[in-house]
Formats: sequence, structure tokens, C-alpha cells
Amino acid sequence: MSDFAAWSRAVQARMETALDRILPAASLAPERLHAAMRYVALGGGKRVRPMLAFAAGEAVEAPADAVEAAACAVELIHVFSLTHDDLPCMDDDDLRRGKPTCHVQFDEATALLVGDALQSQAFEVLARPGGNAATQVDMLALLARSSGSRGMCGGQAVDLYSTGRSLELAELEFMHIHKTGALIQASVLLGAMAGGPLDPAVRTGLERYARCVGLAFQVMDDVLDAETDTATLGKTAGKDAAQGKATYLTLMSAREARDYANDLVAEAESALAPFAAAGRRLAEIARFIVARRY
Ligand code: IPE
Ligand code: IPE
Ligand code: MG
Ligand code: MG
Ligand code: MG
Repeated sequence: MSDFAAWSRAVQARMETALDRILPAASLAPERLHAAMRYVALGGGKRVRPMLAFAAGEAVEAPADAVEAAACAVELIHVFSLTHDDLPCMDDDDLRRGKPTCHVQFDEATALLVGDALQSQAFEVLARPGGNAATQVDMLALLARSSGSRGMCGGQAVDLYSTGRSLELAELEFMHIHKTGALIQASVLLGAMAGGPLDPAVRTGLERYARCVGLAFQVMDDVLDAETDTATLGKTAGKDAAQGKATYLTLMSAREARDYANDLVAEAESALAPFAAAGRRLAEIARFIVARRY
């Protein structure tokens, strides 16, 4: 196993333990809601956003415990977004992370509440006592903005309003940067901010890296939807074309989209130059994002 594969497995294992500890026990009332929250958050997912948080934390030597809280917060927001994204009123998907989606396994109202509750839980984790209070307020504001109408929710709105329409390249980029890029950028910045206030030059470098990686991530998600099978993806393949979604593949071939994602990764790597060896994990994640099969 490569060094990066071992490192990413260690992050995944650490996240499983941390999320298991944070999420209320399924035996605690309301049991059905808590069981559903644990169902969506535990036992699956690549945990790319936590990996980004840990790698950014390593780049600035942030304490790992503080980074872990940031990593849990972004993953909880991500899982909330997936649970709502799969609802019949949005993408109407019945498979996620190789399991029936939350509204299929439980029910629609529970899936709605699971998303709401995970979102609140994310902010609770980030607001935990200890650490630099001023930086913590900045982190809370960043996560709020990245999740809301000028971030993930805004991108999801564009996605829904664009279904069945063709978008210009600039509109598609706006959608991807918001629905996926915003939370990816928050993952990187929060991981680094867990070590204290960021030097402006460090912040600019991380923002440039994260913008490229966030866009590349969703470009590859579009490519994989068209090219990979359902069993490998753990979610239903070919849904974008079937639902008339605006994606990069509506504007270019899969080959061109992959080339574009690779160009973005090269730009992300160049943004890491000031970090030298400390940016190694971030560079490895950028390469993983275009090389991944699911
Ligand atoms: C899928 O994200 C949804 C997007 C934002 C593209 P991931 O591909 O990171 O999903 P998991 O967490 O590994 O299941
Ligand atoms: C989802 O994009 C983005 C968010 C959940 C915010 P997609 O709808 O393309 O994600 P998948 O393909 O269902 O994972
Ligand atoms: Mg969607
Ligand atoms: Mg979807
Ligand atoms: Mg997709």
C-alpha cells in the first residue's frame, strides 16, 4: 500500500471513531432520528473533505485534535447535503454509498430532519469550548457562508433551476464552484485555521489551491457519473444524462473534461509551491481527485 493510501485510511478510521463519538446514540430519544443520522454519517464515503482538512492542518502544523473537530464539522455538512440531494424533490436517488438512501431506508420526513440535525451538529462541534475564540468565530462564519445561499445551497439551487436547460461554461462553473467547491474550500481553510489565524499569504495560497480542487472534484463527479458503473460508484450511474442535468459533459467530451480537471490539478499544485514539503498531502489529494474511480 502506498504511503498516501495508508494515510487516507488512517484519516478514514479516525473520522469513523470521531463521528461515532459525536453523534447521539441510536438508543437516545428520538431513536429513529438518531439511528438515521448514524446510518448516513457512519460506515461509508471517501472522506475527502476530512482528508483536505487534515492535510491543510499538517501544512501549517495545526494541532490534530482541533483539526479533527473541523474535519467532523465539514463532513457533517457534506452528509447533510447528500441526504437532501437524494430526496425525491431534488435528485430522487435511491442508492448512496452503496446503501439505500435515507428516505428509502427510513422515510422522507426523517431524511429532511436528518439533514437539519446534522447541519446543527456541525456548528455545535465547531463551537466546542477551548481554542482561540476569535478564530473560532471566524471558522463558524466561514462554514455558515460556505453552506448557505452563497455557497453549497446556492449551488444546489442553480443545479435544480438548470435541469433540462443548457448552461454556458461560466454558468456551469458558477454552479460547480458553489454546490461542491464552497465546502471543499471550507474544508481546506478550516483545517488550517484550526491552528490559529492564517497569515494572508498562506490563506491566499490555500484558497487558490482549494478553488481548483473544488472545481476539479465536481468535473470528475460528472465524468464518473457517465463512465463508471453503479456498483463501483455506490450511487446510480448515468443519472445526470437521464435527468437532463447541466454538467461538464453537456458542454465537452469526457476526454476534454478529464483534461480540464488535470489542468486544474496542475494549477492547484502550483498554488502549493510556497508550502514546499509541507504541502505534500494536499498535492496528493489533488491528484487522487482526478485519478479516483468513484
Ligand atoms: C459526492 O461527494 C457529492 C458531491 C459533492 C460531488 P463525494 O464523492 O465526496 O461523496 P462521498 O462522501 O465519498 O460519499
Ligand atoms: C451534489 O452534486 C452536490 C451536493 C450534494 C451539494 P450531485 O448531485 O452531482 O452529487 P451526486 O452525484 O448525487 O453524489
Ligand atoms: Mg444534485
Ligand atoms: Mg445527486
Ligand atoms: Mg453527481
